[in-house]
Amino acid sequence: MRLLHITDLHILADENAELYGVDTFLSLKLVLARAFEEDAKPDYIIATGDLSEDATEQSYMRLRRLFLQTGVPVFVIPGNHDSLTCMNTHLIGRLITMDFVAELPVWKVIFLNSQVPGHGYGHISHTQIGALERQLENDRQAPYLIALHHSPSTHCMGEDCQLDNADMLLGVLDKFANARAILSGHAHVRFDEVHSHLKVMTTPATSVQVTHQHRTTSQSDDSDDFLSTHEIDADRHGFRFLDLAANGEMQTMVYYA
Ligand SMILES: [Fe+2]
Repeated sequence: MRLLHITDLHILADENAELYGVDTFLSLKLVLARAFEEDAKPDYIIATGDLSEDATEQSYMRLRRLFLQTGVPVFVIPGNHDSLTCMNTHLIGRLITMDFVAELPVWKVIFLNSQVPGHGYGHISHTQIGALERQLENDRQAPYLIALHHSPSTHCMGEDCQLDNADMLLGVLDKFANARAILSGHAHVRFDEVHSHLKVMTTPATSVQVTHQHRTTSQSDDSDDFLSTHEIDADRHGFRFLDLAANGEMQTMVYYA
């Protein structure tokens, strides 16, 4: 079974608009075309947030058309740029779902909403942490992936790049051998790390990549100062395959279109 993981699509309402010089609808089309030209085609798509750049109904309607053209089930969660209301109204339906758990053959995926409305950083609510713990506790046989927008890895000191209770999330997952891996985005860069028995995977954006730099005390902590501490690479559009075996093993590969 092959999963296609995409993240940080940043689709715009206006067909002529660009993000850092990139037509993000076109870059997503390139990614999907590249992913589906492989001999082993994706059986499912997981899209971990920042699906829209401007949270407009038009952006979600454009995205919905593209997702439905793939013909495979698409699981989505919101990022900091998204509108949950607009997603529910203009994106979800038919093959596109936004649920807490997805049951795939053998494997299962838990989706967490790390959005903090009005802010760039992420947070997982106590309610979701409790539900996660109960799900893993009550179903210890199935191998699980955990998908969320904000990566629990600390790769940037910028406040907006953090999942503010990453330690709490990792502390719960540490207890369960059936939690195999975390899938996230937000960073717009690739990271593949190991925490305890977990693979922690951050997948590059389909839109633009970002190089993160550590802030110095002389730099403003204002989020408007983003470009003074981060560099944009508009030339590469990334995605990840996960090949999930029935015996609980996984292989992962990152590509750029
Ligand atoms: Fe993003």
